Amino acid sequence: MSDIFLGECLVMENREVAAGTFLLRLEAPAVARIARPGQFVMVRTGPSPAKGTSPLLKRPFSLHRIGSGGEIDLLYRVVGEGTSLLSQVRSLQGLEVMGPLGRGFEPPDPLPRAYLAAGGVGLAPLLALAETLAGSTETILFYGARSDDDLVSAPYLELFQCRVLLCTDDGSVGFHGPVTEPLAEVLEASPAPVFACGPRPMLARVAELAAGAGVAAQVSMEANMACGMGACLGCVVQTNEPAYTRVCLEGPVFRAEDIQW
Ligand SMILES: Cc1cc2nc3c(=O)[nH]c(=O)nc-3n(C[C@H](O)[C@H](O)[C@H](O)COP(=O)(O)OP(=O)(O)OC[C@H]3O[C@@H](n4cnc5c(N)ncnc54)[C@H](O)[C@@H]3O)c2cc1C
Ligand code: FES
Repeated sequence: MSDIFLGECLVMENREVAAGTFLLRLEAPAVARIARPGQFVMVRTGPSPAKGTSPLLKRPFSLHRIGSGGEIDLLYRVVGEGTSLLSQVRSLQGLEVMGPLGRGFEPPDPLPRAYLAAGGVGLAPLLALAETLAGSTETILFYGARSDDDLVSAPYLELFQCRVLLCTDDGSVGFHGPVTEPLAEVLEASPAPVFACGPRPMLARVAELAAGAGVAAQVSMEANMACGMGACLGCVVQTNEPAYTRVCLEGPVFRAEDIQW
């Protein structure tokens, strides 16, 4: 707990990378130094408390990229008041940040082959993971969204340094349907651990497919969070043992078989 940074970080960049999806780069050496893929930060999206209090609560965002130069990237989708304010933030402004928080992905070592499954902005935590796997693990990213416009661009996806299979709900690009359909086929032909982030129904299906293929799956879960550090119990999910578990402290990454879907 003592290593968790709380303070103001300088905004280095904040730009739209897909429709309604932004990339925020922060100078955060104290976070980047110790952060692991799958962990998250809480960000105060509004003005400093001296200038106003809305929205009062910080918002949780996965670490999209953990830079060796002390920067961290967040990939976020505008969905409400906090993320809308965040999208208006300019370079050289300061934002209050707390982190790194939670438990991240724990890929087995060695890991010859892995599948990453991302639904929409669920892509966020998987880049940091893909970067740690690059070079040692044959990785395929299954990345889906509603439509072509909602996907980050092909050149951006080169950062993952792996094979990418695109899926869209409307069939505007790639496979016409959810990422779990091609994932099911690949898992049957060549089973390997799965790491996933996205909407809950997608994660539930990933859990089912992984169990059927006899492989492990680790899923990054979402929940509304007030404190981000285990105190408010606002973020619990139903698990097998114990019955309720905090996403912010024991997660956000869980073994898929531990969740009560
Ligand atoms: C551990 C963790 C990591 C996350 N990482 C990312 C990330 O990398 N990128 C990203 O874009 N988002 C991420 N989220 C979700 C993000 O925190 C919410 O989208 C954000 O808090 C919304 O704030 P807001 O003020 O814009 O929306 P609000 O005004 O608070 O809410 C607007 C709408 O969004 C819904 N909403 C709010 N929070 C969530 C949530 N956590 N999950 C689902 N729906 C929600 C509300 O129910 C409401 O309908 C993460 C959440 C968690 C718990
Ligand atoms: S957000 Fe407060 S306990 Fe998890």
